[in-house]
Amino acid sequence: MSTMLEIKGLTRQFGQFIAVNNVSFSVESGEVLGFLGPNGAGKSTTMKMVTGFLSPTSGTAVVCGDDVTRDPIAVKRHIGYLPEGAPLYEDMTPAGLLGFVANVRGLAGSDRRSAIDNAVAKLQLDEVYNQQIGTLSKGFKRRVGLAQAILHDPDVLILDEPTDGLDPNQKFQVRELIGEMSKDKAIVISTHLLEEVDAVCNRAVVIARGAKVADGTPADLERRSRYYNSVSVHLKTDRVDQLKSAVERIEHVSGVELGPVVDDVTQVLVVPMDGSEIVEAVNLQLVENNIPAEQIYVERGRLDDVFRQITSEGDAQ
Ligand SMILES: Nc1ncnc2c1ncn2[C@@H]1O[C@H](COP(=O)(O)OP(=O)(O)O)[C@@H](O)[C@H]1O
Ligand SMILES: [Mg+2]
Repeated sequence: MSTMLEIKGLTRQFGQFIAVNNVSFSVESGEVLGFLGPNGAGKSTTMKMVTGFLSPTSGTAVVCGDDVTRDPIAVKRHIGYLPEGAPLYEDMTPAGLLGFVANVRGLAGSDRRSAIDNAVAKLQLDEVYNQQIGTLSKGFKRRVGLAQAILHDPDVLILDEPTDGLDPNQKFQVRELIGEMSKDKAIVISTHLLEEVDAVCNRAVVIARGAKVADGTPADLERRSRYYNSVSVHLKTDRVDQLKSAVERIEHVSGVELGPVVDDVTQVLVVPMDGSEIVEAVNLQLVENNIPAEQIYVERGRLDDVFRQITSEGDAQ
């Protein structure tokens, strides 16, 4: 693996307000990095600096060896960028827009033709190729935005909320496409949706109030959930009290939480201390106390729980 993108101490102030505060991380070829944060965290501002559309107050980004503060044009050559909301020229057709972008990218002759054909095929734009962009559905508009981003087959893709506003089928398609393209590229997608990380990312960087607060694999983040290694037991509601007193005897159990009741079956969540493995001990208590369970399984941890926790730390100050 080689480092394709290196973000070094990127900082951006708007007047007195620090929108992005000393953010650093790097992305290797083959990685799909989820750049996560609540609305207003500084994701788009960071992406605009990386892509050379906004100058940093301090810090820089190095893309395939080129420094964006010194040579933004070289950086733009390496990068495909889908801006937030994917603004497009509504009066143009995909044919016109892709031709225009190809010219800007300096593509000519057979390279130009094959770049456009390839992008149109990948994003399945044939049926709308000559239709005015303003009249296209949201899903197609996003696909046109992605087509212009990948047209020159860049090594690095920066996609700002690529699935925002799409319906579930369209989200699925865009995520599949990102997965397919990731083999030989470094891809950064910003999102405020946790499901997106599970679906496509092999790494996640979380920012809150402009600062990086976490960097790791989705599994690393899940381990930070208070529900990591919790044991979910589904059992008849009239057995819940029996289960509670049985599992409360187990060392390393911090508590028991009641989940939903469906058809008189209650989900009970047995929560460990510090992510300890308690499933065998829980199982043993069920057997020894003759408590019949309908289902028992270990929870992986909940990303939304971790996300809420790490992005709201300090809110009370
Ligand atoms: N041009 C600007 N002038 C002033 N404040 C801005 C500007 N652009 C962004 N901001 C502020 O910076 C913060 C981060 O914005 P943004 O990067 O768009 O967040 P995100 O993409 O994570 O939702 C927000 O509080 C936003 O209002
Ligand atoms: Mg944004």
